[in-house]
Amino acid sequence: REKGLKDYYKKYFSIGVAVNVRALSGNEADLIVREFNSVTAENDMKMGPIHPSEGTYNWRNADSIVNFAFKHKIKVRGHNLLWHNQAPAWLFKDSVGNQVSKEVLLARLKEHITTVVKHFKGKIYAWDVVNEAIDDKPENYFRNSLWYKICGEDFIAKAFEYAHKADPSAALYYNDYNSEEEGKREKIYRLLKSLVDAKIPITGIGLQGHWKLDKPSPDLIRKAIEKYASLGLKIQITELDLTVRKPVSPQDRLAGATQMPMAVDSGLTPDLARQQEQRYKEIFEIFRAYKNVITNVTFWNISDRYSWLDSRNGGVAGGAAASDPTRRVIRKAYPLLFDEKLQRKKAYFSVVDF
Ligand code: XIL
Repeated sequence: REKGLKDYYKKYFSIGVAVNVRALSGNEADLIVREFNSVTAENDMKMGPIHPSEGTYNWRNADSIVNFAFKHKIKVRGHNLLWHNQAPAWLFKDSVGNQVSKEVLLARLKEHITTVVKHFKGKIYAWDVVNEAIDDKPENYFRNSLWYKICGEDFIAKAFEYAHKADPSAALYYNDYNSEEEGKREKIYRLLKSLVDAKIPITGIGLQGHWKLDKPSPDLIRKAIEKYASLGLKIQITELDLTVRKPVSPQDRLAGATQMPMAVDSGLTPDLARQQEQRYKEIFEIFRAYKNVITNVTFWNISDRYSWLDSRNGGVAGGAAASDPTRRVIRKAYPLLFDEKLQRKKAYFSVVDF
């Protein structure tokens, strides 16, 4: 059997990938089985998709992913139990359309987490329990989401307690982006420390890892890992991708909006490919140096054939738009280790060459 990423990293950490049911057959499935030993549902376990109306659960896609993983001896990371995005419309409202009270919202949260975590009990080794609850703006601590507006910060600790009760052996994570940036890092640290001090069952932090070629710096990545690890927490890199795309300019947006042909995507030029190769090498060197605290590294999508970061006409990226063939790609992100033909890129070899 040909060696894959998971074999090179056997002594370090498991290597995962975010998937959709579309990828569970054909070439992409073969690639997943060859390279990865952990999978995450890109969307299918989020609250909106899995719990579309009160009392109705839609297990189909999530179960397909879990069954595929079981069949191929791949483990499953659950993503996620609580987020301000992709939350179902009914969640925050009562039957006449008024916003629900804190008591009602926490009761709904408890029911949701208990049902979902029990459904997958023993099949999911780690859950992202709370996703992105800290604000990006320096002046705010918590994100002013409906969760926060209705419950204050209590929903965070509660979510971990409900999840732990439903499956005491699942590892439980707080997951966020830009967690290396100094200001946000200090706020996340403060939250995690308060949870640890209160003996809330939390295993670690997920650093999403939606990174650029030059940001965050290696130094900031190391500092963040050390700071979070100093609380005795584990670290998982939960959504790694290294975009080479420059931000979409106003002209590009206009081009997208006026249906101009795909001219603005200049492709993964040799120069960008080299920079990305170097960047992947540098990042995995850091990960390997922290193998005692890093327990998983998961890529967000399989190959450059499809990434949620690809910008599409109208400026819409990811989700439904991504699988809609009538929405042309105006600029791709090329953020992963496999190209559009599912072949290993130079960056792949820089990650396994050590
Ligand atoms: C993204 C998916 O990749 C898209 O398909 C969807 O439209 C939006 O969500 N942080 C997260 C992930 O925690 O759940 C997000 O996934 C990417 C950002």
